[in-house]
Amino acid sequence: MDFIGNFIASVKVMSIKPFTELLQAVFAVLATLNLKMGGYPEQNVLKNFSSYDIIIVGAGSSGCVLANRLSEISNWTVLLLEAGEDPSVESTIPGLFPFVDYSYEDWNYRTVNDDYSCQAHTEKNIHLTRGKMVGGSSGSNYMYYVRGNRHDYDSWEGMGNKGWNYESVLPYFIKSERLGDDTILKSPSRSFHGTKGYLGVTKPSWGDKVDFTEFEQNERKHLLDFNGPEQMGYALPTFTVADNVRQSTGYAFLRPIKKRKNLFLSRKSFVRKVLFNDAKEAKAIEVMQNGKILIIKARQEIIISAGAINSPQLLMLSGIGPKEHLTEMSIPVISESPNVGKNLQDHATVPLIITEDKSKVTFLQDVQTFTKINEMPAPCLIGFAAVNKTQIIPDYQILYYRFPVGTIIPVWICNFVYGLADSICISIAKAAQSKGVILALVVLLYPKSTGKVILKSKNPGEPPLIYTGYYSQDVDLEKHAKYIEDFLTLLDTKHMRKTHAQPLNLNVRQCKHHKFNTRKYWKCLALNVVTTLWHSVGTCAMGPEGVGVIDYKLRVHGVKKLRVIDASSMPKIVGGNTNAPTIMIADKGADIIKTDHGFIGHPNN
Ligand SMILES: Cc1cc2nc3c(=O)[nH]c(=O)nc-3n(C[C@H](O)[C@H](O)[C@H](O)COP(=O)(O)OP(=O)(O)OC[C@H]3O[C@@H](n4cnc5c(N)ncnc54)[C@H](O)[C@@H]3O)c2cc1C
Ligand SMILES: *[C@@H]1O[C@H](CO)[C@@H](O)[C@H](O)[C@H]1NC(C)=O
Ligand SMILES: *[C@@H]1O[C@H](CO)[C@@H](O)[C@H](O)[C@H]1NC(C)=O
Ligand SMILES: *[C@@H]1O[C@H](CO)[C@@H](O)[C@H](O)[C@H]1NC(C)=O
Repeated sequence: MDFIGNFIASVKVMSIKPFTELLQAVFAVLATLNLKMGGYPEQNVLKNFSSYDIIIVGAGSSGCVLANRLSEISNWTVLLLEAGEDPSVESTIPGLFPFVDYSYEDWNYRTVNDDYSCQAHTEKNIHLTRGKMVGGSSGSNYMYYVRGNRHDYDSWEGMGNKGWNYESVLPYFIKSERLGDDTILKSPSRSFHGTKGYLGVTKPSWGDKVDFTEFEQNERKHLLDFNGPEQMGYALPTFTVADNVRQSTGYAFLRPIKKRKNLFLSRKSFVRKVLFNDAKEAKAIEVMQNGKILIIKARQEIIISAGAINSPQLLMLSGIGPKEHLTEMSIPVISESPNVGKNLQDHATVPLIITEDKSKVTFLQDVQTFTKINEMPAPCLIGFAAVNKTQIIPDYQILYYRFPVGTIIPVWICNFVYGLADSICISIAKAAQSKGVILALVVLLYPKSTGKVILKSKNPGEPPLIYTGYYSQDVDLEKHAKYIEDFLTLLDTKHMRKTHAQPLNLNVRQCKHHKFNTRKYWKCLALNVVTTLWHSVGTCAMGPEGVGVIDYKLRVHGVKKLRVIDASSMPKIVGGNTNAPTIMIADKGADIIKTDHGFIGHPNN
């Protein structure tokens, strides 16, 4: 079926004008952005066998924070190595975020088809965006600033990771934050927030356009702040956006310190391997810059912050990982570590479409919202809920976007972002012609299933194999379907009945034999349309020897002078988005390193 043909036929309102307006808005912002684009530390050209005190691999959410905090110590020279380049205009202007995915700033990974989940995707797998730039995935993410549930961190400590309970990590969330929202700062939430950190956080200007009535009628709380004393309920999200600019960690943590003499940033530098001496101390890395392979030495430590896919890959390429797998790949084993790349956790996400009768608003109005590109352009809200309404740990998260009649945006998300089958996207396009459309993402927060990252070959340039593991434990599928049903009780409120709100049958080929809107149907739908919220974590998890890959001080078990500090360090996925927690891990990690080396770290230093 020709998707584009159908798509154009079904969205007749499309005209050139909205796109011209979008471009004009881009140019207008560009004019004011000139000053804000550059300003990163200058490029450090690497010399063979040169040495630095500390080498950080990867300038992502975690790497940029570490580079900032560790270069506060003037005794150290800090080298930050990044495969990508400075973030583009698309990455810097918040409203252009859709243009970052699938670009040269994306590693463009695809998961392995497991012949079970994701079968309603055109390629029967998932396009797993990972940022490849200074700022990493914080330069390509959707900018929601969410910390998760207090219990998440208490459970990390419960798994044998001393010092990671909520009370201990909260000061680090506060330390990095620069919240610019008066309503939160004047509320009892105040003591949970920082106003002096590098990371700007704000609420969007479209807050008054978002209506909470249906949630209140569904006995869910309307919260001011899910990063405060309580998480359960629906709220306007906070975003890592400030001064009209995306607060990637590159922008927020590196630009202000570009003049530090002891910080060296090398872009277009792809690290291939960590090298050890006979005492199994990490001594150097092998890196490719400008097509040349160089050896760069570390006097103190090497820190891997390459993210949840690349960090385990780099460990395995360096000889740390499951013995059989390394042997199979002809990689000499430096240290046997069976759990490297295992324990891949992510937030399986099921997109639902709800239609409602609305007075006819037009596609143009839709685009007008979208031409406000200084912030997240789509009015949306976030909810945390549990089937048991008095529970204080959520079962699922909801991302809720309401679009006017004639919208093309959910169709575009269906097709371009998720790569779902044409028949599904066409049913959305058809419904959107005459109905208002709500896109609700139902996120399974605490999966029991795990996936894995393994090598495809010993060639560092070859992407690893990524198995999502979605629903490999049946209980997850059962629960996810139950959460979808629980969420849909929302439609049974006075407010939603008034507009005849209905879940849309997406014509998923694999589910045709199930009666629509039954438990069996939702299980089938979830299994086949499931996609990612891009929250991959856990592949170099913290935990005691034999369980974790790294210890509670983030040191790699079995070798010396090597740490992994990024989203892969999480022993268990948090009940929320993963960027702020990753930044917290890096901030706490920096203090651990300073303390270990006799520079006393303090949350407020
Ligand atoms: C599309 C998308 C949307 C998201 N939305 C949100 C959201 O709204 N809110 C939220 O909280 N979270 C969101 N996330 C998740 C969040 O951004 C990530 O969890 C977080 O950025 C991970 O940080 P990290 O430091 O572990 O890895 P990254 O930020 O990915 O950093 C890794 C860095 O290392 C570099 N690198 C990798 N390998 C090498 C190598 N061998 N040599 C040199 N450099 C290397 C990479 O290029 C990259 O810059 C989203 C993610 C994506 C991709
Ligand atoms: C750091 O450098 C200063 C000045 O050179 C020196 O006095 C101090 O001992 C050093 N600290 C450590 C812990 O090495
Ligand atoms: C750096 O040294 C290594 C080891 O001697 C060598 O293989 C490599 O080619 C050198 N790189 C450059 C750019 O000279
Ligand atoms: C609901 O949650 C509350 C609080 O955790 C708990 O006390 C209660 O037993 C739960 N109810 C059911 C039916 O599980």
